[in-house]
Amino acid sequence: MSFYVTTPIYYPNGEPHLGHVYTTLCADVIAIYHRLAGEQTMFLTGTDEHGIKMVKSSADEGIEPRTLADKNAAVFETVWKDLGITNDDFIRTSSDRHKAGATAFVQKLIDKGDIYLGGYEGWYDEGQEEFVTETTAKDNEYKSTISGKPLVRYSEPTYFFRLSNYVPKVLAAIENGQFRVEPESRRNEVVSKLKQGVEDLSISRSSLKWGIPLPHDPEHVLYVWIDALSNYVTALGYPDGDKLKKFWPADVHLIGKEILWFHAVYWPAMLMAAELPLPKVIFAHGWWTSDGRKMGKSLGNFIDLPRIRDVIQKYSLDALRFYMLRAVPFGNDLDWKDAELANAYSELGNVVGNLLNRTLNMTAKYRDGIVPAVATPVDDASLAPALNGMELAIAGAYESLELQRAALLPIELARAANTYIDQTRPFTLAKDPAKAGELDTVLNRCIQAIYKSLVALLPICPQRAAAGLKQLNVETDGKTLGQLLSSELPAGHKLGTAEVLFPRIEPTTTVATQGAV
Ligand code: MSP
Repeated sequence: MSFYVTTPIYYPNGEPHLGHVYTTLCADVIAIYHRLAGEQTMFLTGTDEHGIKMVKSSADEGIEPRTLADKNAAVFETVWKDLGITNDDFIRTSSDRHKAGATAFVQKLIDKGDIYLGGYEGWYDEGQEEFVTETTAKDNEYKSTISGKPLVRYSEPTYFFRLSNYVPKVLAAIENGQFRVEPESRRNEVVSKLKQGVEDLSISRSSLKWGIPLPHDPEHVLYVWIDALSNYVTALGYPDGDKLKKFWPADVHLIGKEILWFHAVYWPAMLMAAELPLPKVIFAHGWWTSDGRKMGKSLGNFIDLPRIRDVIQKYSLDALRFYMLRAVPFGNDLDWKDAELANAYSELGNVVGNLLNRTLNMTAKYRDGIVPAVATPVDDASLAPALNGMELAIAGAYESLELQRAALLPIELARAANTYIDQTRPFTLAKDPAKAGELDTVLNRCIQAIYKSLVALLPICPQRAAAGLKQLNVETDGKTLGQLLSSELPAGHKLGTAEVLFPRIEPTTTVATQGAV
């Protein structure tokens, strides 16, 4: 089985910020899960380097677009490495391999008879690189709905793609489930906009030089969105090659909600024209605000790279990943709050860290650190459903991209096990030799619970979950997540020694120990 997940390719006109980090971390969680599930996984990210936005940003800095792109594409690549992102490839649209693939893609549309010469006269949002209809422009006082900056009037000869021919087919494909657009509320917006009718799409610029020349008329460069969308196949070696065969169609295109239209309408139409299969899922997640307001450099609430690095240094990368996923049901808008980040970290420590600590310490104290076999039956109604249902629940959460659920399932299991300890009182059982069989059972169930909780946490908190499993003396290499979650640690297995997994962080960042029995 293969699995292909992508992020948008980002404009390298500055450093990555919270929004870019969010999409990339979420895609990373998905990729890690599928690798652990035993699937051959391809995770792609990259940079979208052509277009007017890059030209203007580079002019502001007094440098060439290519220089700006080289500089910041390198920053993106380095940041992803620093953040432990497990992308398998990084595509740059200024690279030869992309240019060759994108040119072949456009040639295919030309050969199909789907491209014709016309003229564009209308509004353009340069920040979004988006053509805007007269009605929308007027409704928004001729300003960008995203940046608020004035729209620019364009009038130039341009080639068009016969998008209108494909709109009924795209609509049908969404409605009959040929590809999924999620979440549902956003899918419905796309469907209703499609039903209002869509005009042909301008796909070239004759007044711009920074781009990929059209093969049949090099005076025009390819519209940056057509150039960019094709990255999802050029990175696989389009028009042919083993990777394309193995990984196309993509399983998930993960994007932010503001670029859903491009992905749910233009991209499938282009793929239909190029006679390629459609991606399976296009998932548009929500947008981050910060302390209830749109993030802005001048507002002082911008979560930029230095701020993200501080957070990681204080709480760890795994805590940032957990916070971002547990914050809201995946797909909803999000609001950054330092207090919620601190709470998310405490939750990891108080629930998962604490269970690991209690379980290891009790087993060391009462059973020499050796997993006892289940003996006398003990009521485990508070624990059994979460414990026994974990394998299916995790698979279901990732299949339906309920990433918040995927993040909370391991916590809920650990919480249930902590409650079970409070109810069964193993420290009292240990005082009575007649209760040894019950104590064996309780310890065994707690060990299985922390083991499964940590396994399920592997995609979300890869480092800490692996460190916890090491304390349990568990070797995960070569085993799939399904195998790990469907098995139990056998009686007689020797556990390791307890170390604090999530050290308590005081407001002053002093580190103290946490979680004794
Ligand atoms: N280059 C295009 C994408 C082309 S894909 C074929 C682009 N680039 S971008 O640099 O502007 O990145 C946009 C993406 O960054 C969003 O889709 C989203 O994934 C992420 N985010 C940027 N700001 C964001 C927030 N404030 N909140 C959440 N994610 C946002 O668009």
